[in-house]
Amino acid sequence: MSEHAALSPVRLTMREGPGQPDPSPALGALYQGFERELLVPLWTEIGDLMPSSPRSKASPHLWRWERLLALAAEAGRIVPVGRGGERRAIALANPSLGGRPFATPTLWAAIQYLMPGEDAPEHRHSQHAFRFVVEGEGVWTVVGGDAVRMSRGDFLPQAGGHWHAHHNAASRPMAWIDGLDIPFAYATDSQFFEFGRHQLSAQEKGTPERSRSERLWGHPGLRPVATAKACWPATPLLAYRWADTDRALTDQLELEAEGHAGTVSPGHAAVRFTNPTNGRDVLPTLRTEMHRLRSGAATVARREVGSSVFQVFDGAGSVTVGESRWEVSRGDLFVVPSWVPFQARAAASGLDLFRFSDTPIFEALHAHRESADPADIPPVPGAV
Ligand SMILES: [Fe+2]
Repeated sequence: MSEHAALSPVRLTMREGPGQPDPSPALGALYQGFERELLVPLWTEIGDLMPSSPRSKASPHLWRWERLLALAAEAGRIVPVGRGGERRAIALANPSLGGRPFATPTLWAAIQYLMPGEDAPEHRHSQHAFRFVVEGEGVWTVVGGDAVRMSRGDFLPQAGGHWHAHHNAASRPMAWIDGLDIPFAYATDSQFFEFGRHQLSAQEKGTPERSRSERLWGHPGLRPVATAKACWPATPLLAYRWADTDRALTDQLELEAEGHAGTVSPGHAAVRFTNPTNGRDVLPTLRTEMHRLRSGAATVARREVGSSVFQVFDGAGSVTVGESRWEVSRGDLFVVPSWVPFQARAAASGLDLFRFSDTPIFEALHAHRESADPADIPPVPGAV
């Protein structure tokens, strides 16, 4: 083997099989030539490159909130937060993605933890992000100088390119979930990052009940006329409050009980967080939703192109993701890889699920597919 062939990352093996050439010394020499010149023939790769339907490199997996929280609290005790490390954020690493901090091939999900009085320094990046708060309060996220309160159940999107920092104004630590499109940006070589100021001004470290963005954009069905021609790719509203989300879900289930339409399926209410300037997803790459299952109700089993991360916001139940089935409760996080069937069922307590996915990417590329066809999806244990 030549020096070039020895250094080449291309490795080809002669194999017998349908459509494969018969192994021979001549074929071996041809494959060595391919290796030397960094060439790979389609006929050895097509089964992996072009399967009949998506075969995700990620696996279904569940992370228990209580274990995440305990480890994050220990990190709070011994790991500083500051310039360079930027955030005390601990990412979910899908067991099938080589130990990288990727929950799925496109999605980052991390628990972030901030001690009393701590600040996470300002920076900005092209990756789109959001925060979701499963418990606690006392931290303000400062986006472009606008201080945004974070409390249980609140959803805080933040489009790429905005300066942002966090500060904990409370006397207790606080944890929340960060969701970003970091793995997507990483895989597509499209990321930019910039450090900001080390310190926020005293004014920016204020603790207003409502942010400026909420005062301008946070009124249902009401749009500032001054922005009437704007159609922005990401939402200008920096906080979607739990009281509004909760009311919308409660109303859907009550309407259903009165015989009116509105739920996704019997006992399954759901809302999607949207951009008030165009009615589309809050962020160009991320879809975010809150789902509520009435006591004993189940979602329709389905699968779709693209991956999702779910967090149990409240209640308990069971979820089935492909061959995996887990009993879940508050705070637990799990991953649904592309084209893997998913179904959730609420226990007697009911079940609230926060979900984020990469669906807008595939919709924009006209590559999104979904199916709830029973013939297409194997029956799920416990399905209605
Ligand atoms: Fe950030």
